[in-house]
This record gives sequence, structure tokens and C-alpha cells, in this order.
Amino acid sequence: MTDTPAIPGKRPAGSDPARLHAWLSATLRRHNHLYYAKAQPEVTDAEYDRLMRDLEAIEAEHPELRTPDSPTQQVGAGLRSELAKVDHRIPMLSIENAMNEDEARAWYKRIADDIGDVELICEPKYDGLSCELVYENGRLTVASTRGDGKTGEDVTPNVRTIKTVPHTLKGEFPQRLEVRGEIYIEKQAFAELNERLEQEGAKTYVNPRNTASGSLRQIDAAKTARRPLSAVWYQVANPEGAGLKNQQEVIKALQGWGFVTSKKLLTGSPLQVKTLKGADKVVELYHTYAGKRHELPFEIDGMVVKVNDFARQAELGVRSKSPRYLLAVKFPPEEKETVVEKIEVQVGRTGAITPVAVMTPVMVGGVTVTHASLHNADEIERLGVKEGDSVLVYRAGDVIPKVLRVVKDGGGETFSFPTTCPRCGSDLVNLGEEVVTRCPNHLGCPAQVMGAVVHFSSRTAMNIEGLGDKNVEQLLAAGLISDPSSLYELSDRREAMLELERWGERKIDNLLEEIEGSRAPKLEKFIYGLGIRNVGETVAGLIAAEVGNIDGLLAATEERLNAIEGVGPIIAESVIKFIQDEHNRALIERLQKYVTPLEVKRLAAGEGKFAGMTFVFTGALTRFTREDAEQMVRDLGGKASGSVSKKTSYVVAGEKAGSKLKKAGDLGVQVITEDDFAAML
Ligand code: IVH
Repeated sequence: MTDTPAIPGKRPAGSDPARLHAWLSATLRRHNHLYYAKAQPEVTDAEYDRLMRDLEAIEAEHPELRTPDSPTQQVGAGLRSELAKVDHRIPMLSIENAMNEDEARAWYKRIADDIGDVELICEPKYDGLSCELVYENGRLTVASTRGDGKTGEDVTPNVRTIKTVPHTLKGEFPQRLEVRGEIYIEKQAFAELNERLEQEGAKTYVNPRNTASGSLRQIDAAKTARRPLSAVWYQVANPEGAGLKNQQEVIKALQGWGFVTSKKLLTGSPLQVKTLKGADKVVELYHTYAGKRHELPFEIDGMVVKVNDFARQAELGVRSKSPRYLLAVKFPPEEKETVVEKIEVQVGRTGAITPVAVMTPVMVGGVTVTHASLHNADEIERLGVKEGDSVLVYRAGDVIPKVLRVVKDGGGETFSFPTTCPRCGSDLVNLGEEVVTRCPNHLGCPAQVMGAVVHFSSRTAMNIEGLGDKNVEQLLAAGLISDPSSLYELSDRREAMLELERWGERKIDNLLEEIEGSRAPKLEKFIYGLGIRNVGETVAGLIAAEVGNIDGLLAATEERLNAIEGVGPIIAESVIKFIQDEHNRALIERLQKYVTPLEVKRLAAGEGKFAGMTFVFTGALTRFTREDAEQMVRDLGGKASGSVSKKTSYVVAGEKAGSKLKKAGDLGVQVITEDDFAAML
């Protein structure tokens, strides 16, 4: 997975459009990454939409700022995961959003001005993860996520575990059928799952949508099978083949083939799928949806309005990102009043100090909210919030709760930001231009030690399952661990572990087995797990390839790190700072007693079987994940690229290869199968 782009500082205050454009672009790219690649959004949908609109507004006024890579020109963000990639034959576009009824009316007017009055059909906008199913001769052959709209991830075995998804179609069907819909988790199932995770001391999920995303995109389908996923299907991407002429017929045909549709889901609920005409009717139904959404067992975040007839849809055409014939009218974020009882201060893994409002519990968007981050001193000042104040909170898109504004002064005292760490008492510092205040006591502060151990163990680092916040906190509090290296001494402390609340033989065995299994990690996972500032997964991989082993890392110089493509001076400096610190060196030394990362064999330029060759992988691979295949190419001195050009030596085409295969043909690049590639290895 690529690194999350950095927070691009504060929003520029002045009126320079180029500066604001740059800031908005960087901010949106970061949020895209958090949303699509990490499934850990930091902002609500409404907030994201606001930023996107600001960017669109600037570009409307200053078209010269609109570059092809602007977030306004892209659907989602590129995905990188260990799942194989699948090209969508027909791109999966996104839907234009309206934030309120006026915008819905404006959309209707635009299309009616163009093609006259048309019949519309309204459905819920499901708040899940879009998915495409391909059926050949009535059998499910491929299931994929949307990805960047052109290429998604292969989740076929995972989708097969969802009970309501038909493996074979009923009745008459076309030879090839491409069905699209949404994978989601019902509210109740989400609550139960989180309760279970919490009991196990594991990390809980933020909302049903992220849970659905995380559950569907498991490498191991057996894990997906244990998650309570639901699915609904609303679109046929190639309706001509089935002789379908409008959306109503699509829903009917989908039902006939055995799919769950909106019609079926809404039976018995206060809402229904409806055809209607005119803006007034759309707005009326939208208000009904908004009023009744909480009565549904699943989350919806708006109402989708579609031109029913496909011939009329075609008259309207498609813009670069979204078709004109449909619109999502989003619900306004629910805002509730509550009281800030206390402003607490938390300490994160990197020592960042975050003030948090602890509030009288209040239901917002179907979920009880008690805490909201206030981010930093500037934000507290901007909101003017104090303990005892009444505030409005919201949770748009059902993500993280936020304080919107103060509605009543509670007469309390102005919050004074601490000057010492609430966990270890160290004097706090503000570094450079950062708005974040930090505790500098990285090795002694219990909050940071906990963060370090949790990070070290995380799936993308050493992958030791069972070390979420709660369990680590317990082990630390009992003095059973003191840093990541001490995890490997836990096997001598079984008796003491048994004394802990909620720890039985089984749980201890599982954890010790996980720890034991982590002793020979890839070097990049180990480096990433050290938690060096500015070193994310990708950068850790680049550094590992350069230094080869731990000794190489400890001996690295700033110049050498700086020379790595993809590693800049800031990263190089923070690595050097880390490895020069005597405590960090001591930690690495202790870790080396137990952990032996796999050495990365370094090939000098021009060495290796694939030296001078460039490979492009396309379509669904069955023998390797795409990442592994690309790594093998690099290990043998070759290059792996994402796009086909004249310089490409081979295109390795898996199943369902799409545009890249065509391009290879056009350019006369040699195309080989996955088996051919394996033979070359
Ligand atoms: S129709 C051009 N119908 O919302 C896309 N999409 O925010 C046509 N979505 O990617 C899709 N509910 O995954 C359609 N009833 C519905 C939907 C729906 C949710 C998703 C879809 C799309 C996303 C855009």
C-alpha cells in the first residue's frame, strides 16, 4: 500500500487561487487515499464534498488550474493492495451529488431543458462498497471492487461467501452479464461485530461501510465468510445483451435471476422504489427518505434519482466522471445538541497531544456519540469551546463525530492547553511550523510505548494478531511488556498472563503462537514496524531494498538514503535521527535477539535475469498476486510498470485483461500468459 499523503498544513488564508487550489488538491488526495486505500476516512462525506466543491469552484473560475491529475478529474484513488487486479470492461463511474433540494431541482431543470420532461426512478443510495459481478453462461466468474473505476480488485472468492449472491443465475440469461451493486453490513450486525471485537480486545471499526470494505477485501476469503456481509444489486452494465430497456426492467430482471434488489429490500419498510415525474415529486420523495432512513436496518446516505429509460439516458450523455442521467441527493448531516462535560487530552503513538471533547451521550445518525476530537489548540480556539458548553455535534456519512459549533456558553473557564504530558509529565513541545503539540518522551511515555507496540504488531508491520490497544494496555500496565522486543519474552510469563482479566489459556496460546510466527519478517515490514517518523510502508520497502539487512540500515548514511528514488531529504533525515538515537539502537539490538528479517538480495544495476526488461501485468492473475509478481520482476533486476509503452518488454495478461492488452497489440509489444511468465522465472 502506498503511504498516506501528508497533511498539507493549514488552509491558506489569503485569496491566492493557485495556493488554495494546491492546498485543496493535496488535502483531497490525502482523503482519497484514506478512504479508498486505507478504508479509514478522517473526514465526513459532507466535509469531503465541501472541499471538492471548493476545488471545483476555483477551477470553474480559473480553468488553467485544472490539470488532468486534479482530484476533480478522477474517480476515487488508485488502489494498491495484495489482491489481484481486474479491469472493468465498462468503467465504473461515480454519481454527481446534490446536497439539498435546491441542487436536486437545479439538476432536474438542466436535464429537462435538454431533453424535456422524463420519467425518473428513485432508489436508496446504499452506503457500502460498490462491486461488480460478471456471469458467463449463467455462472459467477469474477467479482471485483470499483478501485479507481477502471481497475478494481479481484474479490471473487470473498463475494462467493455472501449467502445471497447467486453463484448461478435462474431463468433465461444472456451469455455475459455484468451486474453492479453494493456490499454492506446491516446496522445490527455491525454493532454485534464491534461488540465482539471489543471483547476480544481487538480494534473496532468506525462504521458499517468501512467494516464492509475491510471484510470484503480480506486476502483470506475464510475471514470474509465470518463477517456478516449483505449485498444489493441495482445495475446491469451491459443491458443491451439482455434486451433491457429501462431501469424498472433491470430491477425486475435482476429479481428473476435471483438477486436481491432495492424492491426486495424495501418490502415491508416505510420506503419504496418509485417511478415519478417532475422536480416536486423528487423533492417530496427525498424528504420521505430523509425522514424514514433510520427505520431501515441498513444505512443509506441519500436517494439516487435515475432517468428510467435507457434511450433517454443516452440522449443526455456522460461527462468525464459521472453520467448526467443520474443524481445522488445526499441527506444533510444530522446535528444534535449536547453538553461538553470535559475536555480530555490524549497522547498518540508519535506523542501527538489531542484534546478530545467528552460529551453527554447523544444519538446522532443512529449511533451514540460520546467523544469528539478537537484536534489541536487552534481548533479549540476557533470553536471557542469550553467545558460545560452546549454544542452541536454531527457525524455526516456516519464517520467520526465532530463538534460543529458552540450554541450555549456554559460559563466554564477557557480551556488551557497543557504544557506537560498528561501521561508522563514531560514538558510538551511544538516543533517547527506544526500545529500539533507533542510529548518528546518517546520511550518513557506509557501512551507512546503502547502506540509503538500496537504499531509494531499491526497487520501491515509484523502482523501479530491480537495486540490491539486494550490488550497491549493490559500487558503494559501489568509490567509484562515494556517495548516491542519484550513481546518475545512473553512466553516466559505465561503464569502472570493467566492472572490478567479476560486472558485464558486459549487466548495466551494464540498470542504466543502469533508472536512466534513473526520472527522472520520481510525486512521492509520490520523497518516499517519500527515506527520511524515519515516512513510508511512504501518508503520502508524502498529503504529495505537499498540497505538489504538490519546492519545495512544501522550503517546507512543520509546521502545514501537521499539517493534512493522516492526518498526525499525529510525522510532521510528522520531515518538518520532515528538510527542515531542510542535508545532506538538499543531497541533494535534487543529485537535482533529474537527477530531475523529476511535479507533483501541486492542486485547491482544491470544484474539479474530480467535486467533491462520492463513487465506490465494486466487482468486477473491466478498464480501470484500482482504485487508478488512485480516484486519477483524487481528481485531479478527488471522493472514493473503500470502502463504499456513502446519500452515495455512483455505484457503478462491474466484473465479478463482489458485496455492494456489492446494497447500492447497496438504497439506490437509481446504478450505472454501467466504460465509463460512462471516458466521464465
Ligand atoms: S447506480 C454511475 N444506484 O454510489 C454509477 N449507485 O457515490 C451508477 N450507489 O459508485 C450506479 N446506491 O456504488 C446506483 N441505488 C444506487 C446506489 C448506487 C449506492 C453507489 C455506487 C456509486 C456510488 C457513488
